Amino acid sequence: MTSLKNKVALVTGGSRGIGAAIAKRLADEGAAVAVTYSQSKAKAEALVAEITKGGGRALAIQADNRDPDAVEAAVGAVAEKHGRIDILVNNAGVFDAGTVTEVTADDFDRTMDVNVKAVFLATRAAAAHMPEGGRVISIGSNLAQRVPWPGMSLYVLSKSALVGFTKAVARDLGPKGITVNIVHPGSTDTDMNPADGELAGPQRGLMAIPRFNEASDVAGVVAWLAGPDGRSVTGAEFTIDGGTNA
Ligand SMILES: NC(=O)c1ccc[n+]([C@@H]2O[C@H](COP(=O)([O-])OP(=O)(O)OC[C@H]3O[C@@H](n4cnc5c(N)ncnc54)[C@H](OP(=O)(O)O)[C@@H]3O)[C@@H](O)[C@H]2O)c1
Repeated sequence: MTSLKNKVALVTGGSRGIGAAIAKRLADEGAAVAVTYSQSKAKAEALVAEITKGGGRALAIQADNRDPDAVEAAVGAVAEKHGRIDILVNNAGVFDAGTVTEVTADDFDRTMDVNVKAVFLATRAAAAHMPEGGRVISIGSNLAQRVPWPGMSLYVLSKSALVGFTKAVARDLGPKGITVNIVHPGSTDTDMNPADGELAGPQRGLMAIPRFNEASDVAGVVAWLAGPDGRSVTGAEFTIDGGTNA
């Protein structure tokens, strides 16, 4: 597959789960891929080894989304190595559970730093190195569209913020020929939300097709948006959740 031949991609939070699947898929399509991680050095390096062994090009960078300097430095390192960034996937995210009276101001800061502020910082930094035809794709959540249970206020706040950011930045970067979109996974089998976890059954009960996404299901939509067929799609939301309804 060569739809992304000669493209350069940066995926935040690419050591595990959805981000790792996206990195693999973009590399399979021919892109040189860099992934960031906060803690999972071994997993990030194993992913790079797997991509490289398959003939792809990959790089792992330690960059905690809570550290603005690290986020900007990661973008700078990729731009310096390759001369540009064609595709930014804002994937890294955390889920702090708790009702509005249970979560704390520190929880708020953590969620917003990782899920929102770092997206702003990475997008701003990457846009400076992004040529015409560039792509910014953020990973949101179907919980920004419907909230079936209590205990999600901070996460929903953060992912809803990304919807507005996506629509606004699509306007900012449109004149440069850069598209900006958001992909909303529903229940997806990862460490964050295992398909055999105790909350999995109720999630399946909300779906028209009662199966968890595999991370590769999300990666397929991201690869399509990143590729040539996505060139006229911007400011848009894509929901991948088996027809979940609250
Ligand atoms: N799984 C779902 O059901 C689901 C549904 C909707 C949306 N999403 C969204 O999809 C994205 C990926 O989720 P996932 O399920 O793949 O989660 P995951 O399995 O927990 O993996 C999270 C990834 O993000 C990285 N990360 C976490 N905190 C970070 C930080 N402070 N700085 C840099 N990287 C950090 C992790 O790196 P380390 O390995 O170094 O910790 C890891 O690579 C998130 O934005 C999540 O909100 C997931």
